[in-house]
Parts: sequence; C-alpha cells; structure tokens
Amino acid sequence: MTANNIDRDAIAHGKITEKPLRERPKYPTWALKLTMAITGLIFALFVVVHMVGNLKVFLPFYEDGTAPIDHYGAWLKEDVLYPLVPHGWFIWIFRIVLLIAIALHIYGAFVLTGRSHQSRGKFRRTNLIGGMNSFTTSTMLVTGIILLAFILFHILDMTMGVAPAASSSFVHGEIYNNMIAGFSRWPVTIFYVIAMLVLFMHLSHGIWLACSDLGITGKRWRAVLLFCAYLIPAIVMIGNISIPLSIALGWIS
Ligand code: HEM
Repeated sequence: MTANNIDRDAIAHGKITEKPLRERPKYPTWALKLTMAITGLIFALFVVVHMVGNLKVFLPFYEDGTAPIDHYGAWLKEDVLYPLVPHGWFIWIFRIVLLIAIALHIYGAFVLTGRSHQSRGKFRRTNLIGGMNSFTTSTMLVTGIILLAFILFHILDMTMGVAPAASSSFVHGEIYNNMIAGFSRWPVTIFYVIAMLVLFMHLSHGIWLACSDLGITGKRWRAVLLFCAYLIPAIVMIGNISIPLSIALGWIS
C-alpha cells in the first residue's frame, strides 16, 4: 500500500511504503501505442502502393521489348521527386523512413507486450472479445515476427539478389526477369503465399487497433473503418498472391 500521510511507525513495520506501486516507465504507454499506430499505418500505405506497382508485371511489353515494371523500377530509383531532390535521393530517403518506422514498430511491440505481461502477472489473457478477433489479437507478435523474417528474405531475394534467397540468374534492375526466375521456384512461391496470408491477419487487426489507438470512437466511423480494415488487407493479399502464383503456374513467363 502507498500513502501520502507518512506514518513512520507503519513504514518501519513494513505495513505501508512511500515508494510508487511501479516505476515510471521511460516512455508512457500511450506514446508507444501512438508510435506503433503511426509507423504501422506508414507500412500499410507502403504495402498498398507496393502492390499496385508490382501488378505492372501483368502489363504487356513495350514495342522495344522492355517490360513496363523495369521502367517503373528505374523511375523509382532515379527520378521520383526530381528536381525537388537530386536523382537517386528519393529511394534512400524512403528506405531511411521505412527503416526508422520498422525499428520503432518492433521496439514498441516488445515493450508493450512486456508491460501487458507484467500487469497481468500470473493471470492469463482470456477469450474476452471472442472468436477470430481474440485469435488475431493474441497472435500479433507471432505474425509480426513471421513478417519480419519475410521482409529480410524478400530484400535478399528481390532487392539485393543474394542467393540462395534470390535465384542464381538475378540481375540488378531486371525486375521482370528476376520475378519470373524467383517465383518459378515453388518453395519460394509457397513461402510468399503463406507470408501474404500472415500479412492479411497482421494488417487487418493492426489497422483496426491503430484506429482505436488514434482515438476514433464514433459508432459510424468505427463501422466504416472495420470494413476498411478487412477490405484493404484483402485487396493487398489477393493482388500480391496473384503475382507469384501466376508465374509459378506458367500464366506469365
Ligand atoms: C508477392 C508480393 C511481392 C512482390 C512480388 C514484391 C516484389 C518486390 C520487388 C520486385 C522488389 C525490388 C524492386 C526493385 O528492385 O526496384 C521489392 C522490394 C521491396 N519489397 Fe516487395 N514485393 C512483394 C511484397 C512485399 C511486402 C508484403 C512487403 C512488406 C511487408 C515488401 C517490402 C519490400 C521492401 C521493403 C522492398 C525494398 C525496397 C527498396 O528499398 O528497394 N514487399 N519487392
């Protein structure tokens, strides 16, 4: 028990203490939740834009025999925001933003999980919300870790071209050929498909949590956002899965 009116005898006998019940945390929980919401939404926006860009793999080749997605990749790396920033700067600004966002997101996830375990003590989480919602809530950390593993593999595979994650025929800048070579390997395609299902689970629950943590409480708004929290991740999942599957099944080559 803590007390404001200090009774020296009671303190001496160990009945009360002047110490706070728990130490003030380095960063308040609300600040960590806000950080997780904002960094998570940055990633959500990224995966939507990234998926739309990747779908260019389905566009017919230009007359000179080059693939639209290769031009798109070159534009992303060299010309976005030019002349506002010099050639080639945007991709690095964007990479630094994503790196900071993911680092903060992971830090927040571990600190908040630790705090909730600490405050529950020996009591375990119960199935309070029920069904699928409780399942996705309790698996956010696991799905997050799987996604992190996917991102590391994916960067070695598609950006850096490091074998065996990447195919042995990887060539920097030849995005179309790299995708065809990469997804012609069934184990890689299956891994991508599983990762996209995991992304759906993490993203749908994450968007919903972020909206709650950003203080959206109106009944009508919440109904609309709940719908979007499933619709957007579903579109991302279907769009993304269609690419490796179409290649592995030989529909594009
Ligand atoms: C089937 C789905 C996906 C495909 C086909 C795909 C394809 C690609 C390709 C081709 C690149 C290299 C682009 C280039 O060299 O210019 C790339 C980069 C990248 N992708 Fe994906 N991607 C997919 C899903 C995802 C997802 C779900 C995430 C995030 C969770 C993600 C995160 C990244 C990141 C961070 C980069 C590195 C960007 C850079 O700094 O150059 N990708 N992706």
